[in-house]
Amino acid sequence: MRHVEDTGFHPSDITPESVWLTRRQLLRGAALAPVALAGASSSARAATDASPTGAALPAEKSLKWSTSDTVTPWRDITTYNNFYEFGTGKGDPATYAGKMQLRPWAVQIDGAVRRPMTLDIDDLRKLAPLEERIYRLRCVEAWSMVIPWTGYSLAHLLRHVEPTEEAKYVTFTTVVQPKAMPGVAEHILDWPYLEGLRMDEAMHPLTLLTFGLYGHDLPAQDGAPVRVVIPWKYGFKSGKSLVRIHLQPTQPTTSWMRAAPREYGFYANVNPAVPHPRWSQATERRVGSGFFAARIPTLPFNGYAEEVSSLYQGMDLRRYF
Ligand code: MTE
Repeated sequence: MRHVEDTGFHPSDITPESVWLTRRQLLRGAALAPVALAGASSSARAATDASPTGAALPAEKSLKWSTSDTVTPWRDITTYNNFYEFGTGKGDPATYAGKMQLRPWAVQIDGAVRRPMTLDIDDLRKLAPLEERIYRLRCVEAWSMVIPWTGYSLAHLLRHVEPTEEAKYVTFTTVVQPKAMPGVAEHILDWPYLEGLRMDEAMHPLTLLTFGLYGHDLPAQDGAPVRVVIPWKYGFKSGKSLVRIHLQPTQPTTSWMRAAPREYGFYANVNPAVPHPRWSQATERRVGSGFFAARIPTLPFNGYAEEVSSLYQGMDLRRYF
């Protein structure tokens, strides 16, 4: 097994999660085509563009919620993805996501709310003013990007449906389209991909209901037509292509908790002091910064400690990883 901190680590190398996936699939006796783990293929790169092609999505630029870090190039954000419904290779989402059916699309918001509703994607998008926010995204696999997202705080939608006193957690359910998603048949995870947040995390203004990237509609591989982005948590918390947002009294078991409970916890706050059982989380590789660029230190809460650390006061973050 190749450790992610080896020098000379290359984007197309097998990543730790993929290594784990190989093992899991072998255990299940599934024959895994090596190409699925080979990372971004040349055909994936050819299938994507150098600049945005989707419809423009005008939005106010938010200085308050944006980092001044150098933004990752569009090509990297749209060709180096994790979206396991399309396969485990970083290039698989860009190769296959074009087949995804993006309209009609509705999102159901229900559970512990006074006003459950199903909103058409175009109505959902108009629910609050859109902002462009440049966030750091730190993947659990120890790479990161800086991404200009367009959306609004999820809190706007949650307030709109009027949560009851029972609403302590939120579960995000993402779409399953077996015909368009070759990874679904491989049973890489138990679909649909489920993620969740505690209610106060979901209500935090940084938690972004996201419709756009680089000032345009989200490309399918990045979670079109709507995803959530939680910048102080590892990337896997940010569920793509949402179809349901469910409020409930109990903590949900997310897809990654179910698949590997020792490795992926519910909180998944970015924390350089708590290593993953199989690799360090102390540093990260900024995707797009050049092959020989030095790794950079990972910051507690991905650099958002000032905004969010109070949510976890008194909690043992080693235990609640
Ligand atoms: N959402 C779904 N539905 N399926 C996935 O496999 N992968 C997660 C997250 N959301 C995933 C998902 C992981 S592991 C990461 S790091 C981020 O999406 C990656 O987002 P990006 O490809 O837009 O950078």
